[in-house]
Amino acid sequence: MSGEAVGNPQCYASKQKQINRLVDENAAWSIAVRRHLHQYPELSHHESKTVQYIGQQLDEMGLEVLSCTGKDAVAYIEGSRPGKTVALRADIDALPIQEETGLPFASKLDGVMHACGHDGHTAILLGAAKALCGMPNDFAGRIKLIFQHAEEVVPGGARELVEAGVLQDVDAIFGLHLWQSLDAEIVGACPGPIMAGADSFTIKISGTGGHGSMPHLTIDPIVVAAHLVTQLQTVVSRSLNPLYPAVVSVGQIHAGDTYNIIPDTALIEGTVRYFHPEVREAIPDLLERLANGTCSSFGASSSFTYVKGDPSVVNDFQMNKVVEQVAAEVLGTDKVVTAEPSMAGEDFSYYLQKVAGAYFFLGMKGEAARYSHHHPRFTIDERMLAPGSKLLAGIALNYLSHS
Ligand code: NI
Repeated sequence: MSGEAVGNPQCYASKQKQINRLVDENAAWSIAVRRHLHQYPELSHHESKTVQYIGQQLDEMGLEVLSCTGKDAVAYIEGSRPGKTVALRADIDALPIQEETGLPFASKLDGVMHACGHDGHTAILLGAAKALCGMPNDFAGRIKLIFQHAEEVVPGGARELVEAGVLQDVDAIFGLHLWQSLDAEIVGACPGPIMAGADSFTIKISGTGGHGSMPHLTIDPIVVAAHLVTQLQTVVSRSLNPLYPAVVSVGQIHAGDTYNIIPDTALIEGTVRYFHPEVREAIPDLLERLANGTCSSFGASSSFTYVKGDPSVVNDFQMNKVVEQVAAEVLGTDKVVTAEPSMAGEDFSYYLQKVAGAYFFLGMKGEAARYSHHHPRFTIDERMLAPGSKLLAGIALNYLSHS
């Protein structure tokens, strides 16, 4: 991308009008696609029928259907002239939740439900693709569509796709999430971190067990664990930059079997959330140092395990401006807000570690979408499908128009 944040405004605006018209023409089709996907949800890493259905839609648009991992679907929309490659990504997996919406097109599979809106994301990207296929002479470069499997689990699909080289020919990438905590038609964009990284840790404390009446003959791992849980609170409050938010939460402590025996061991498990990569760099050592120090001060020993989950989603400043400009054009400047970052995780982070790009929220809160993501009564507001397609297609053309 050149030094300018945005391309020729008039040239882009006329293309956006054409996109909007094409998306509106296919609005009913997008809703039908979404409802089909909603009826046949598939769990992470098992999305074979979903991928097959997506492939059929792409095939009908005249696109060659490819795959990087065998579990995803990828396709290119070629412009009329050579240029850069911009990727658009949708996640396609569902959740192990029993649907309770009572909708006529509710899940036909017991215990599996599109309860995060990924059926909507897939329909939005297919809608964007259909519009872009209608205007190949209007852009240089190409658009890479990535329908990604397994966003909901760790390890997930984005990491597999990146390792399989999905971004090797990509210059920039964009994606969105329908967002229930943001009002309908509001776009939440954010330069820098927008979603948290999520890791986990385990500390095993080894002491010496014995009779509860003779503690002086033991090294009590429960007392050590109690001290350590308190010590762990100082990681965020005393050791990290207060301008960089982080969470260290202990979610499990296991020790002992009965009231009068001091056990040999205690186990602590917890989660870490953060936005800035510097924080993730620092936290494992800080936790381990406290674990070792606290244990040795009591004569106990510790073993520490840190499991890295999805990193934080960090948007590129220039690419975020592209999102904001297109959102203002599609929905109006009053509909674009700076998103409050979410402590939830999202594996879009792996793409943004490789190439510049931006991830954003499309609000849908209202009568049609009253329940939070992952709730058995979660629904999307289908009226947001068309704006979503207009945004993704517009972002791709805006990026290509000035790269
Ligand atoms: Ni989701």
